Amino acid sequence: MPDALLTEETVSAAVDAAIAAIDAAGDTAALKSARIAHTGEASALARLNATIRDLPPADKPLAGKLVGQARGRVNAAIAARESVLAQVERAALLQAERVDLTAAPLRYRAGARHPLTLVRETVEDVFIAMGWEIAEGPELEHEWFNFDALNIDPDHPARSPQDTLFVEPIGAHLVMRTQTSPVQVRSLIERGAPLYVLGPGRVYRTDEIDATHLPVFNQFEGIAIDRGLTMAHLRGTLEHLARRMFGDAARIRLRPNFFPFTEPSAEMDVWHPSAKGGARWIEWGGCGMVHPNVLRAAGLDPQEFQGFAFGLGIERTLQFAEGLSDMRDMIEGDVRFAAQWGLVTR
Ligand code: PHE
Repeated sequence: MPDALLTEETVSAAVDAAIAAIDAAGDTAALKSARIAHTGEASALARLNATIRDLPPADKPLAGKLVGQARGRVNAAIAARESVLAQVERAALLQAERVDLTAAPLRYRAGARHPLTLVRETVEDVFIAMGWEIAEGPELEHEWFNFDALNIDPDHPARSPQDTLFVEPIGAHLVMRTQTSPVQVRSLIERGAPLYVLGPGRVYRTDEIDATHLPVFNQFEGIAIDRGLTMAHLRGTLEHLARRMFGDAARIRLRPNFFPFTEPSAEMDVWHPSAKGGARWIEWGGCGMVHPNVLRAAGLDPQEFQGFAFGLGIERTLQFAEGLSDMRDMIEGDVRFAAQWGLVTR
């Protein structure tokens, strides 16, 4: 490209073009391009400046002053535009990041606690308040703890595969526990007497699933062993639980029954004063005085220690406590079911 002719007109045309581009720059990136185009090495001003070196020495001062002033005007325009754009961009950023300090706070739904957990904790609290301990046993249990130590004969029908889930290899004698009663034996062996233990946990049976049966469900087992405990203590303890759960008008009654691990044994009914459809008796669970053979299996002398045990279903308790028609709702994992007992928020 031939050298541009250095005149006042060409210099001021270059300045005008530069200032127009600078003023048109809408953001700092565009301004940077304009700066390179109008002040960089390839710019009109740089090319005009380069012609100075070929001028007669007498003309150089004036030409240098002309280009120097032009560069000064362009640089001043860039600086002015830069500060305008910085202000605009900062204002846009503040607007985008605006926080409304007057807005109502968001309450996040963290989920809902399952009503079975709530029943379990209510019952645990009643017994902890009386000084009992909480104990848990394995769900995969040895046949000896689930049956033999509980005085259940080898040919008892409950030990058939129609009722009990046996786990292979059969020779290992492992079952999915059918009741929480093995916790009685484990607690007696591990902790000795006197003993006041509540054992909540999951149990397994080969039952078909329907509105009132689940093949996997929860029980809590109670066992109290001490010197001189009688059936009156059993009655008083269970009636206390009934009143804490269903109000002071609740009562219990015991009907004769049979369990291999208690003697005498009873079926316990609870008078539920606020039952859905009216106050009535409801079958709640099994109980009795711990059989001497169970005490012996745990290494205790039945002459010295006696006591009582009981077993109650947690799903069944929730079902009649809340008047729920179908137990299957309890295991479907739909948060809308659990949310009826209150959401957890954070
Ligand atoms: N284990 C018995 C059941 O599952 C309940 C029970 C426990 C009965 C303790 C008596 C004593 O049916």
